[in-house]
Amino acid sequence: MACIGLLACASIAWAGTDNRAVSFDKGWKFTLGDNAGWSAADFNDASWRSLNLPHDWAIEGNFSQDNPSGTGGGALPGGIGWYRKTFDFTPEMKDKSIYVDFDGAYMNATVYINGHELGTRPYGYASFSYNLTPWLKPGKNVIAVRVDNAEQPNSRWYSGCGIYRHVWLRILNPVHVAQWGTFVRQDKVTKEAADLTVITEVENTGKHTVKAEMETYVIAPDGRVVASDARLLNLEEGDKTNVEQPLIVRDPLLWSVKTPHLYSVVNEIKVDGQTIDKYITKTGFRFLDFDAEKGFSLNGERMKINGVCLHHDAGALGAVVNKAAIARQLKIMKDMGANAIRSSHNPPAPELLELCDSLGLMVMDETFDMWRKKKTAHDYSRYFPDWHERDLTDLVVRDRNHPSIIIWSIGNEVLEQWSDASADTLSLAEANLLLNFGHGKDMLANEGDELSVNSLLTRKLADMTRELDPTRPVTAGCNEPDPGNHLFRSGALDIIGFNYHDDWFKDVPKNFPGKPFIITESVSALQTRGYYRMPSDSVFLWPERWDKPFYDESFSCSAYDNCHAPWGNTHEGTMRHVEDNDFIMGQFVWTGFDYIGEPTPYGWPARSSYFGLVDLAGNPKDSYYMYQSRWRPDLDVLHLFPHWNWAPGEEVDVWAYFNNADEVELFLNGQSLGSKKPEGGAYHVSWRVPYAPGRLEAVSRKDGKEVKRTFVNTASDPYALKLTPDRTQIEADGTDLSYVMVEVVDKDGNLCPLAENEILFTVEGSGFNAGVDNGSPISLEPFKSDSRKAFYGKALVIVQNDGKKGEIKVKATSPGVEGSSVIIEAQ
Ligand code: GAL
Repeated sequence: MACIGLLACASIAWAGTDNRAVSFDKGWKFTLGDNAGWSAADFNDASWRSLNLPHDWAIEGNFSQDNPSGTGGGALPGGIGWYRKTFDFTPEMKDKSIYVDFDGAYMNATVYINGHELGTRPYGYASFSYNLTPWLKPGKNVIAVRVDNAEQPNSRWYSGCGIYRHVWLRILNPVHVAQWGTFVRQDKVTKEAADLTVITEVENTGKHTVKAEMETYVIAPDGRVVASDARLLNLEEGDKTNVEQPLIVRDPLLWSVKTPHLYSVVNEIKVDGQTIDKYITKTGFRFLDFDAEKGFSLNGERMKINGVCLHHDAGALGAVVNKAAIARQLKIMKDMGANAIRSSHNPPAPELLELCDSLGLMVMDETFDMWRKKKTAHDYSRYFPDWHERDLTDLVVRDRNHPSIIIWSIGNEVLEQWSDASADTLSLAEANLLLNFGHGKDMLANEGDELSVNSLLTRKLADMTRELDPTRPVTAGCNEPDPGNHLFRSGALDIIGFNYHDDWFKDVPKNFPGKPFIITESVSALQTRGYYRMPSDSVFLWPERWDKPFYDESFSCSAYDNCHAPWGNTHEGTMRHVEDNDFIMGQFVWTGFDYIGEPTPYGWPARSSYFGLVDLAGNPKDSYYMYQSRWRPDLDVLHLFPHWNWAPGEEVDVWAYFNNADEVELFLNGQSLGSKKPEGGAYHVSWRVPYAPGRLEAVSRKDGKEVKRTFVNTASDPYALKLTPDRTQIEADGTDLSYVMVEVVDKDGNLCPLAENEILFTVEGSGFNAGVDNGSPISLEPFKSDSRKAFYGKALVIVQNDGKKGEIKVKATSPGVEGSSVIIEAQ
């Protein structure tokens, strides 16, 4: 056994999906434009820009109405770009099999090695790999990648452009475990034992027959080897074989949202006692139950799936994958009480799944936003016929060992739900109309035994998924709730999932007897942080219709929970359904964070979404605290809003979200405005208050005893800047981040809630300014800049370490107010 005794193998840590891979991110050359000659090994790229991956050229650009992505894609540039990297053939590469792995490039990435074309991967969210071995030569070698995102729109949100995820090099002995080569299948897990079958694909890419021994062992979180099995292998040249090893882990520490225990499964291949390959799969053991009446349970514990949908961009960083950025997003979601993430509507970056594994977040992993029928002019539908099998397979095979993944989704709102949606000829607005508003019965599947082509396609995709992973259920995010939906009629979905259509929830048990149900997407409320439209008890359904242009001069949406898309509901409205019905397993709220693109209900200059519970810069909107009050019983919540800077005499609606208490009393300048209890099933209390400047204070009480107290003061004029970094110590690894939030405050330190001061940033020492933001969906200021206007009093600078240890000094100044600075340590 390679790893004997306690802790011998405990510190298994690496980045990326494969422990054998080394980062290939550094030292690339890049240019925009296109020229077939740029693939040649001897092309001189000295004049190209030097950069490290991951990289997104679109986020560096300017917003424009003329960019082909349209506002739906963020109004940022597209185009074609080339990347080249020159690297040495090192002595350690001799007689080895050498692979380059791309976690994702958007899109149509064509890869060349020394001028030889290796292939093109159309789907911009897929991970892919090439064997470089036959084309490598002593001395210098050149890899070139052409990335083509010229034909837009092709995603209904901001995609980013370029090699936006990590790239890796794997140098292996000819006999090795293949890429994503293990499936640690959890045949039966209980609190007493995890019965596993480890299926390992081993290949011999060399020229000789090799006799080897493969030992497969499981390492517990404390470093102990808790199960093992050894096999003899006889591999001839070119052989590829699947080795199945049953293993039992007794008394496993189960993975859960509260205790995300992780195990490692190690495949160690030895020849004559020498280890020639060691492949490590991180995983965790848990058991899931999806019940049509009682809902969902994890390890026997009933719980709601309290999920949010997330798109993949990281605000001012664009599509660039940065683990610290994803970790921050997920932590903000977890602090709200979310326990699940939906990777809408595409395969996520591997880092998202790793973080969900380690933070204890469940995942619904999703493949496609369209199948054969298109939603936008140049989308994936044109590649679907040739590529769906490969893309679906790669997703499941890449991801199936993540304990966080509990459900596979084979698609979102695909137009195959209906018979003859001739979507190929539709504009985006028309497709949206079709997607979001009712269909005649004639577009649904007929009763009877015969399945339509669309139902058969559903069955094919679901069966393929189950074949690759029989341990998890398959669903799809539908927006046709009728059982005649061709996807439902296929009978192939293990879980009925539909988006919105709250009026249909009550009929699910009748319409789909015996089938578990989840709200795959919910709410679609629209909010601008800091903007309040009264009266707060009248609800704005925006846009009125998809085919009618919508305009409101505010270019804002109210942050009271009183504005949502017509197909959605208020946050509280859907929450009520989920809480009151056991058969609803949970929901995925659209969305956790704002994202670039899809600025429903507005057009230009709006360019990012209003749907988030958190704005693009990472500031929670008020509804965030409604979720926190429901999803975090462990935390006393009392959130009072809006701000307290209004015109004298104006009537202002004041709301409070709270929990662990039965009433809230409001005071204005010390005078009670009365105690309130939630009415009519609401999750908030409210008062209509004639405005007078001063202090608004709320006190929550349970059985007459104070639980929590909070206040908001009227702010006077802007006086100073206040800087709050989310982290004052970061890693000196060249990628780690600190998010420094700037608030414009008055002389007493109160946030000036309407301030729009222009703020200038300088970052000195071991870091640089990686991007700025303020959370405004309509700001046309570039994300890469030394300045940003405050939006409702706040702005953000993202500071990234440059690879060196030491202090990073971040300074913010603004004309007419006192500047401020903070020090961040990079260690
Ligand atoms: C849904 C769709 C999402 C997003 C959302 C906006 O229908 O699945 O991708 O477009 O609407 O409300």
